[in-house]
Amino acid sequence: MNTDEFRRLGHQLIDWIADYRRDVASGAYPVVAPVAPGELRRRLPASPPVEPERLDEALADLTNLILPACTHWQDPRFFAYFPSNSSLAAVLGDMAGTGLAQLGLNWQASPALTELEELTVDWLRQMMGLSELWNGVIQDTASTSTLVALLCARERATNYGAAAGGLQAAKEPLIVYASTQSHSSVEKAALLAGFGRNNLRSVAVDDQYRMRADALREAIVADRTRGLTPCAVVATVGSTATTSVDPIGDIAQVAREHGVWLHVDAAMAGSAMILPECRPLWHGVEEADSLVVNPHKWLGASFDCSTYYVRDPQHLIRVMSTSPSYLRTASDGEVRNLRDWGIPLGRRFRALKLWFLIREQGVAGLQRRLRRDLGHARWLAERVDEASGWKRVAPVPLQTVCVRHEPPGLAGDALDTHTLAWVRRINESGEAYLTPAVLEGRWMVRVSFGVETTRREHVEALWEQMQAAVRA
Ligand SMILES: Cc1ncc(COP(=O)(O)O)c(C=O)c1O
Repeated sequence: MNTDEFRRLGHQLIDWIADYRRDVASGAYPVVAPVAPGELRRRLPASPPVEPERLDEALADLTNLILPACTHWQDPRFFAYFPSNSSLAAVLGDMAGTGLAQLGLNWQASPALTELEELTVDWLRQMMGLSELWNGVIQDTASTSTLVALLCARERATNYGAAAGGLQAAKEPLIVYASTQSHSSVEKAALLAGFGRNNLRSVAVDDQYRMRADALREAIVADRTRGLTPCAVVATVGSTATTSVDPIGDIAQVAREHGVWLHVDAAMAGSAMILPECRPLWHGVEEADSLVVNPHKWLGASFDCSTYYVRDPQHLIRVMSTSPSYLRTASDGEVRNLRDWGIPLGRRFRALKLWFLIREQGVAGLQRRLRRDLGHARWLAERVDEASGWKRVAPVPLQTVCVRHEPPGLAGDALDTHTLAWVRRINESGEAYLTPAVLEGRWMVRVSFGVETTRREHVEALWEQMQAAVRA
């Protein structure tokens, strides 16, 4: 493709994206893709084209084949999972990054990529009210950030054992602690980092689904008594099911007492910390060793963009660096080589989308939107609290409301059947998308706010739908 052809198709594609975003904001599509498993595969050729095709045809296929099989995360009636906003400014930043096609193997391979990444993660640090003692980097996902954190914890506990016999030479097992409400990525990271499932402790939570610091202390002491080595605790700010917030200050104290690494998973809720009024929620965060916040969730930087902050970058670099000769340069002493701040060698120019987003919205613009979303959640929580037959099953510290409709006389499995039926009715209507989840052995429904285009009228319409769905 020459650049003239690229220009022609690129204009078409931008128009296509702009039309899509306009239409999706007005609810033009069913929120959940109304397709059966395998339907799209059957409509596409099983083998690649041998001869070149015209990309105009691929653009037409985007409309006719791909779009109908998409679930619309940017639809204002998307209340499922968690927000994964992709602000149009971030879309442009992402396109600029792909167009520039930089590969950040080291500083010299792309000084711009490296230094803009340093700058944007530092902007975000300031926006979240974190001290200058934190240094950040962009990883792809929180799953990777948490894996890196556990690798760093493991290496601190073993005095850099990976450089010698690794975990196979460890005298006693190292133990990782996380609450029963922690994200599955914590378990995955612990397994990938070689701790082993037997050495992962699930710490009890209180009646608001927050990790109990006393239970953590007990578990650590019990493990020590058995001759095991407590290594890391992962605390969650904004758990996936209910957005519960672990008491970071209390947990940090336990971690400090026992020399355990503290990693804070604020993947979804970290964005809320750009609001000064939310920061008491993560009081004590300065005591942690590492922290993950995903701007690709609520904030608006298109996926993937997970910021990982550490207190001791030298430790991170020592754990992650390999430094083969072909990557060494004369400036190595003066610059950051971000390959030593994570797992992959190659690095995309992800900072551009965060930079575009923050510049286009300003901190004040982002704050206004997040405050609006918190207001949506408060509004729905109040309606649920007032309505007979409805129950809010968890506190609402942030933008997610967890509810159950409990008609008199319905309990146990029959209640589960009722819950799953009314949420299915809503999801199949194409008019909204909610996710059910199990809390204390019973199904409930999560209503997660945060899509950029969700206005109060969408929330009101949802509440009406929920009330109609339980009557149907
Ligand atoms: C609290 C929490 N941690 C981690 C993750 C995993 O995020 P990622 O998809 O970036 O790995 C999620 C996503 O749902 C989450 O809510």
